[in-house]
Amino acid sequence: MTDTKKSIHGEWSSRLAFILAATGSAVGLGNIWKFPYITGENGGGAFVLVYLLCIAFIGIPIMIAETMLGRRGRQSPINTMETLAAEAEADTNWHYVGWMGVIAGFLILSYYSVIAGWASAYVLKAFTGSFSGTGATEIKALFDGFVANPAQLIFWHTLFMLATMLIVARGVRSGLEKAVQFLMPGLFVLMILLVGYAMTTGAYEQGLEFLFSPDFSKITGDSVLTAMGHAFFTLSLGMGAIMVYGSYLPKDVSITKTVFLIAGSDTIVALLAGIAIFPIVFANGLEAGSGPGLIFQTLPIAFGNMSGGWLFGILFFVMLVFAALTSSISLIEPAVTWLVENRDLDRQQACIWAGLVTWLLGLGTVFSFNLWSDFTIFGRNIFQLMDYLTANLLLPIGGFLVAVFAGWIMKQQHSEQELQIPGTQGYQVWKFLVCYVSPAAVFLVFLNVVGVI
Ligand code: PFF
Repeated sequence: MTDTKKSIHGEWSSRLAFILAATGSAVGLGNIWKFPYITGENGGGAFVLVYLLCIAFIGIPIMIAETMLGRRGRQSPINTMETLAAEAEADTNWHYVGWMGVIAGFLILSYYSVIAGWASAYVLKAFTGSFSGTGATEIKALFDGFVANPAQLIFWHTLFMLATMLIVARGVRSGLEKAVQFLMPGLFVLMILLVGYAMTTGAYEQGLEFLFSPDFSKITGDSVLTAMGHAFFTLSLGMGAIMVYGSYLPKDVSITKTVFLIAGSDTIVALLAGIAIFPIVFANGLEAGSGPGLIFQTLPIAFGNMSGGWLFGILFFVMLVFAALTSSISLIEPAVTWLVENRDLDRQQACIWAGLVTWLLGLGTVFSFNLWSDFTIFGRNIFQLMDYLTANLLLPIGGFLVAVFAGWIMKQQHSEQELQIPGTQGYQVWKFLVCYVSPAAVFLVFLNVVGVI
């Protein structure tokens, strides 16, 4: 392998294109839909604190590692891991890390697409004025009625999967780059606007207190695992998405600076979502721990009651769908690149196969909100099982292995070369985190959950 190696799938046109795409992958339903509801379920402040610590000490070092591995390997995560293992004279079984990532990507996208479908349906609901002048009870009834209807959920899930596959089929340059260019600023402005509404609800302080004053009695081993898993999920780590995006990154771009920027924006969007949502929850006497429907039961109240809410409601849900799209394309990209490299398919054919499998898997999530809601395995319905398996297990395990590989297996001279900060304190700090802190933290959280400590 040479330093001038380029990916056969193309290359980003600039550092900005990578930042936009990787931010597009990171910022998505995880920030606006998932972060608030799991924060609500896990008691607020203490959970948020653990989550922030996980971003800083586990997420960021591993994100740097994963981007670096991608840029050095320049192929699908599976082949990248194999090439880099060979380069480091290590066991090529490391490519199973790539495999795990591809599987995690399918599983995540299967439910991600269903939830993104909800957001798409809410664009239409906002457009037809379903929220205007309504209160919490009607909004909840609207949501409950919607998810009880499998045909509707399948329709929107299908539409979202089609959109994803269409973008991915068009390839790195034309598809992925263009999709992310205008989204982030728009989303940011709308989040600020919603925070503005939250300030008028009369429960703003209560919302802030819930989010930011930690009560450690509310935290359990499981909530620490959820917070850590979410740090991986929200930064798109541990499954090769960032690795594959890193593989399109030009040589001269500073990985560390770029990663700080991406992780920083991602965290801000999540916190803004929380700051907007919890005051609405408390002002309307809603349940903070009400689960995956939380944003769909709160934000429409804001849109229904603020001036200009009709337009803002449409814009918000449109942007949420776009934010989900820029994440979903990165969830399927590792599988598609692998199919193109190893199965002699062209990009279009690879997309069709990958899309079909994910769509089918997604039906399990659709039905877990209605027909199969009573069907549980280990006390979880299919949606909860997919979520637990990926965010709480596969991603942290994948991230752990990425850290171990970058810290212990890869030759120091290679990681120094990629990070372009050789011998500096920055490099030492990263190396220490990725060798000891991040893997040990993941390991300890797992030990705690299985009851060993
Ligand atoms: N980071 C995305 C979000 O927060 O919505 C979800 C995601 C995308 C997870 C890509 C994992 C991934 F590889």
